[in-house]
Amino acid sequence: MNSDPTSGMVRVRGAREHNLKNVDVDIPRDSLVVFTGVSGSGKSSLAFSTLYAEAQRRYFESVAPYARRLIDQVGVPDVDSIEGLPPAVALQQQRGTPSTRSSVGSVTTLSSLIRMLYSRAGSYPPGQPMLYAEDFSPNTPQGACPECHGLGRVYEVTEALMVPDPNLTIRQRAVASWPLAWQGQNLRDILVTLGIDVDIPWKKLPKKQRDWILFTEETPTVPVYAGLTPEETRVALKRKMEPSYQGTFTGARRYILHTFTHSQSALMKKRVAQFMLGNPCPVCDGKRLKREALSVKFAGYDIGELSQMPLLQFAEVLKPVAAQTYLDQAEEAGDVFTPSQTLEARAQRVAHGASAHANAPDVRHTPNLSVEKRLAAQRIAQDLLERVSTLTDLGLGYLALERSTPTLSSGELQRLRLATQLGSQLFGVIYVLDEPSAGLHPADGEALFDALQRLKACGNTLFVVEHDLETMRRADWLIDVGPAAGEHGGRILYSGPPAGLEQVKESQTRDYLFAEAASQARTCRKPADWLRLEGSPATTWTTSVWSFHWAVSLRLPVFRGRGNRAWSARRCWNWWARTWDARWLRVMPRNRAWRTMRPRSAAVR
Ligand SMILES: Nc1ncnc2c1ncn2[C@@H]1O[C@H](COP(=O)(O)OP(=O)(O)OP(=O)(O)O)[C@@H](O)[C@H]1O
Ligand SMILES: [Mg+2]
Ligand SMILES: [Zn+2]
Repeated sequence: MNSDPTSGMVRVRGAREHNLKNVDVDIPRDSLVVFTGVSGSGKSSLAFSTLYAEAQRRYFESVAPYARRLIDQVGVPDVDSIEGLPPAVALQQQRGTPSTRSSVGSVTTLSSLIRMLYSRAGSYPPGQPMLYAEDFSPNTPQGACPECHGLGRVYEVTEALMVPDPNLTIRQRAVASWPLAWQGQNLRDILVTLGIDVDIPWKKLPKKQRDWILFTEETPTVPVYAGLTPEETRVALKRKMEPSYQGTFTGARRYILHTFTHSQSALMKKRVAQFMLGNPCPVCDGKRLKREALSVKFAGYDIGELSQMPLLQFAEVLKPVAAQTYLDQAEEAGDVFTPSQTLEARAQRVAHGASAHANAPDVRHTPNLSVEKRLAAQRIAQDLLERVSTLTDLGLGYLALERSTPTLSSGELQRLRLATQLGSQLFGVIYVLDEPSAGLHPADGEALFDALQRLKACGNTLFVVEHDLETMRRADWLIDVGPAAGEHGGRILYSGPPAGLEQVKESQTRDYLFAEAASQARTCRKPADWLRLEGSPATTWTTSVWSFHWAVSLRLPVFRGRGNRAWSARRCWNWWARTWDARWLRVMPRNRAWRTMRPRSAAVR
């Protein structure tokens, strides 16, 4: 046993990130720690910009010296020291720049399990050799639909789209899809060198030239004479004068498709997308996979259909497979492969550049729904069900596996990552979360809380920035940052078990946390205490009606349980304001400090 009271603590000294005022705080590990405080008080500055950033920095430092460049980007937090800090994982609301190909299925790694299910336990049509996990992934050359390259959509780029007004000349930017500014001029100057008339309307150009400009896959490099007229360029070429530079031409369609698939800039992608006509791919029906992969069925569905189902429906498909009775059914009659057929199929795979999987057993040696296959299916289905239920418990049952993550809301994405972490079996890690309850109905809050508890039970620490009162109440430890926003915040008002916050007068969180708690009980009717209200009707000296200042005080019963302080005060105030035209109200619950209220009724008046 370690008797040092500071062991098991993360000790922060002199944190000054953003508005933090040289903060010292000790935070327990292996606990659910909730960071509270008004917006802008400095919660994220402490939890993310200081604690998480420092954990990241140490991680980078420990793994790779060359990662210093990355550290500079992350930034070194402004803090004197942090001791006892484990590695941290941030489940932040920020989206970063996830690739559009990342989906609910890939983030949760459920997709790879499902591919395994289809490969090992799917029902193959007659004659179809065994397919492996990668054959069921649209993101591999083996699995992608050859027509749409795994995009699920085919794009058409037509002359009408690229040249909306054929009365314009090339110099007048007839090819609207060309890049803007210098790059566009470059293409025009190259066409001048190539002898194409850039000063007659587009529609007057010969069709052969128009098609070449738009659709060519050739990329010739030619001398460019920037700033010269077409006539001067012809002369310069003839005299073999020194060109301004060598320019490379790219066809208009080629430019569009290349930019769309390879550009990192969302803006650029958006610009070129307007010249493309997208339709669901007719070969894969938008399922992104090659035909062979889609010919393998499980429970009557192809893998594309399964990926398009909401998770709740997907779970319904899995339930009978996970059940004991699944083993009772008979295998399907049908063809099985002979060893020589297997060898043949493997040779073909290799010829197509895929892995032979020479050491894997060929599932085609037994019929569809053979005992082996049913056993495999049952195990995978049980595993899948367990993980899907984590997602549905967190209120994500309406999502489908194929949903791309950039389309998820920030709360959805964070809960998705949380569910994934639950399956990751990591321990000794700090999870840092920013308002995981965002967008969650109170009814779903319980599942979120359970998820957090489970991560903790695995030996992890949870740092949660949260405005949800219920989460605050159930925390092991509260850190209240404040008292107000910006430079008026940045101090630690309280650090300890939630109950202790009640004594911290400065805390704005306190008022809500404890007022709400009282309003939840609803039984007691007997007055247990008294609330004294003192109201002052208008004190505006310019108003002749009230030329003097006066105050009235009144004692009201306070019921323990229902009739908490805030409730009574608010109700009394409304009555008071109506009756006396009051502009302010001071509330003093017994044994507590005065609070001045200027409720809405005064402003509305
Ligand atoms: N990168 C930054 N540069 C300068 N000031 C910052 C930066 N980030 C935050 N701040 C300021 O520091 C203060 C605390 O911000 P912080 O993001 O920590 O607040 P918060 O308590 O997490 O609020 P919220 O509940 O709205 O997320 C704010 O006044 C904010 O404007
Ligand atoms: Mg914040
Ligand atoms: Zn396709």
